[in-house]
Amino acid sequence: MRIVLVGPPGAGKGTQAAYLAKNLSIPHISTGDLFRANISQGTPLGKQAKAYMDAGNLVPDEVTIAMAQDRMAQPDAENGFLLDGFPRNVSQAEALDRALADDGVHLDAVLDLEVPEDEVVKRIAGRRICRKNSAHVFHESYSPPKEPGVCDACGGELYQRDDDSEATVRTRLEVYHTQTEPIIDHYKAQGLVVTISALGKVTEVTERAMAALERAG
Ligand code: AP5
Ligand code: ZN
Repeated sequence: MRIVLVGPPGAGKGTQAAYLAKNLSIPHISTGDLFRANISQGTPLGKQAKAYMDAGNLVPDEVTIAMAQDRMAQPDAENGFLLDGFPRNVSQAEALDRALADDGVHLDAVLDLEVPEDEVVKRIAGRRICRKNSAHVFHESYSPPKEPGVCDACGGELYQRDDDSEATVRTRLEVYHTQTEPIIDHYKAQGLVVTISALGKVTEVTERAMAALERAG
């Protein structure tokens, strides 16, 4: 399956993507994770992206689209993928449409995670991520690690993202409403959007998402 996950910052896209990708045997492709990996490795791409990310703004399209397409061209994504954080504006969605059409394939679904704004603010404020593996995501109160600051899965150090400060989160939410939400209408016109509530336990949301994807696929 070829799936796009969409939802506000902190909705739980990364958390759900880890389970959905495993259940569906497709790679989880997160442009945010790809940028953060470039930043921690000190690459020119990472240096370029960091200032935009720290301010809560989108990284320019030419950089982002090239990076996403490069990742989608890897052999493990040949038969499907779960995109998390891409596309993030209408021109990225149009670029993706063109790239898929060139390959003679199409998206199967756009899964839209709905969460009230006060909840996403709480989720982001408590989020802690593993330095060794960005798929290991915790929350100080909702899913705390057994030992504070230490990843249960691999023992890596847990840290708070630079762009999770209150001021940056406000900008990210505004960017989501003005630039990202319009892609939902873009995909509604293609009959691809399935919307689910992302409230409740992580496992409940995964079950809801799997059921919605089965109906869509
Ligand atoms: P990105 O990394 O994509 O961030 P985001 O979209 O803001 O999303 P988040 O990672 O903040 O949240 P999430 O929905 O994955 O939530 P999570 O699962 O962690 O992008 C970062 C930046 O990179 C952008 O601002 C931009 O600068 C740049 N960028 C990336 N892609 C780009 C693009 N295409 N174009 C241009 N620029 C781009 O969950 C959050 C917390 O909640 C966690 O602590 C988790 O444990 C907890 N949680 C999750 N589910 C539940 C639940 N059901 N109940 C309780 N707690 C939960
Ligand atoms: Zn870890």
